[in-house]
Amino acid sequence: MSDSVSARVENLRDEIRHHNYLYHVLDAPEIPDAEYDRLMRELIALETEHPELVTTDSPTQRVGDKPVSAFGTIEHKIPMLSLENAFSEEELREFHRRIVDRLDLAEKDAERLEYAAEPKLDGAAVSLQYENGVFVSAATRGDGTTGEDITHNVRTIDSVPLKLRGRGYPSLLEVRGEVYMPKAGFEAYNRKAAEAGEKTFVNPRNAAAGSLRQLDPRITAERPLDIYAYSVGVVEGGSLPDRQSEILDALQEWGLRASPERDVVTGVDGCLAYYDRLGKQRNDLAYEIDGVVYKVNELRLQRELGFVSRAPRWAIAHKFPAQEEMTIVKAVEFQVGRTGALTPVARLEPVFVGGVTVSNATLHNIDDLHRKDVRIGDTVIIRRAGDVIPEVVSVVESRRPEGTRSVSLPKKCPVCGSHVVREEGEAVARCTGGLFCSAQRIESLKHFVSRKAMDIDGLGAKIIEQLVDADRVKTPADLFDLEVDELAELERMGEKSAKNLVSAIEEAKETTLQRFLFALGIREVGEATALGLAQYFGQLDNIADADEETLQKVPDVGPVVARRIVEFFAEPHNTDVIAKLKKLGVKWPEKEPLSVPESGPLTGKTFVLTGTLSKMTRDEAKEAIVALGGKVTGSVSSKTDYVVAGEKAGSKLAKAEKLGVAVLD
Ligand code: IVH
Repeated sequence: MSDSVSARVENLRDEIRHHNYLYHVLDAPEIPDAEYDRLMRELIALETEHPELVTTDSPTQRVGDKPVSAFGTIEHKIPMLSLENAFSEEELREFHRRIVDRLDLAEKDAERLEYAAEPKLDGAAVSLQYENGVFVSAATRGDGTTGEDITHNVRTIDSVPLKLRGRGYPSLLEVRGEVYMPKAGFEAYNRKAAEAGEKTFVNPRNAAAGSLRQLDPRITAERPLDIYAYSVGVVEGGSLPDRQSEILDALQEWGLRASPERDVVTGVDGCLAYYDRLGKQRNDLAYEIDGVVYKVNELRLQRELGFVSRAPRWAIAHKFPAQEEMTIVKAVEFQVGRTGALTPVARLEPVFVGGVTVSNATLHNIDDLHRKDVRIGDTVIIRRAGDVIPEVVSVVESRRPEGTRSVSLPKKCPVCGSHVVREEGEAVARCTGGLFCSAQRIESLKHFVSRKAMDIDGLGAKIIEQLVDADRVKTPADLFDLEVDELAELERMGEKSAKNLVSAIEEAKETTLQRFLFALGIREVGEATALGLAQYFGQLDNIADADEETLQKVPDVGPVVARRIVEFFAEPHNTDVIAKLKKLGVKWPEKEPLSVPESGPLTGKTFVLTGTLSKMTRDEAKEAIVALGGKVTGSVSSKTDYVVAGEKAGSKLAKAEKLGVAVLD
């Protein structure tokens, strides 16, 4: 055996120990899990090939790390185990095959074998002790045998019952589960921490683990933590059902939370279908999951299967593709948006993450870039969750090479050279070039033609870019005298699509005031505000002539929005474009301004409309409510009086139910 192998083994061990310490003791991991897994797997492979190199202190010989000394310790009478992982369908099939062989099942029984399927929550494992139904203590998993006493902190989690409800629970009951921080709570926490200049958490799992390992429970109490139970440990003085799924039902009866996504499936095909289903739901779940867990449902069979070293033979974690990976920043460039906002974007060494190859990731804004201290040449963690734009999460400082370069906000717009300004108290810096800046022009035009604005079909980004670059289109008005011949000459265009495009542009001339207003791209005026303005004022001239005070009579229009609208119509270049558009035939039905009664039967009441209403459209319902003095807003809050829910009502209805807002059908 060569020296280089033993040197590599030692290196890997040192590196893994370092990351164990960062992860378990400091709650501040530096590398993504996928990278840690690779290091661990490489070490396992080398040790398997060269068993003579295995030492008792190798990280492969134990799981977890020492509890910090400031906490008391709690022994786990029944060890807290870990799970084997499957990273592919094939590995899952092997797992199932091993079980079938060990249990000596016939093929048709193998297909019918029940698995309890559950999401694999990404939080921190805990053990809760209940004596005669009363919560007495809680511990972390620690090294599996000894955990830290975190009773004082777990007590602060609202969803941990301090007394079990109902009856029939064993006099001694140890519940095991995962404490986690819901995504929304995690984001809100980080936003606040960043604003206050405090340390942010890298991901919800570390937020949960870090929050549990506070010496001061008052800090934990302020963290939005939650728990899902997934199994039991010690059970004395009573008995539990003999299936995993039924045990979770029983725990839920007694007041503990169990994941509502849990299910019972049969055979390996049932497992795979569950995996696909949860994979699709993953980004919409309120909490982070990194895979699913299948457990042989019948405890009798679990006992028959037993354990291998630290993991049960009867369970496995089927992991989703990693959403975080590591790569190198090659450059940082600034993209200019429709309103001139400069967004720093990291150009990356391409990396496969969240199922696709990513070569750009956003840094949100200049403060974010500086807070994370991202430099050119740095190794960074990239996160891509679902269809969300990939982002730079953090820098792996231990991998920072010599000679990295810091990035600063450019003084001039990288596209048009105009000055860049940053208003007091604003996170974003902006190019002052307005429509002189071709980037802003392109983005404004893309917005103008987009589906919820003028809805011009077939006018994609590539075509707009060519038209702007050739100076053929400077303002939205220039779109309306484009001719087939000139369009047909553009790249990615032919005679036929040019003709189609010209007729799409022609059709788009007939629009609505709401669409037109939204299309203008007035800052702060989104779809809902545009609708509110259109309904209230009825006609464009009324809006253009309104002062800030009058504008604020429209629901959802506050002083900032009102000022933006007044500023917009005070600019001659904006009113010129509007005049040209009208001259070229853009039109919409003008209506009478809404007569809002000084007071009506619904005065002071706020409504939210959701789903498909049966007797009228939502717009009609809105007009009717406003005519009676009520207000209609876009999102449900504690200030909402009524939610009108039609068919296929979704998250707004759910939120109303959660907040206890009255729902009208
Ligand atoms: S069962 C003997 N079920 O994953 C089986 N674990 O790698 C013990 N986890 O430490 C665990 N969700 O923190 C189980 N539905 C679930 C889980 C789950 C997350 C965590 C748990 C455990 C780790 C094992």
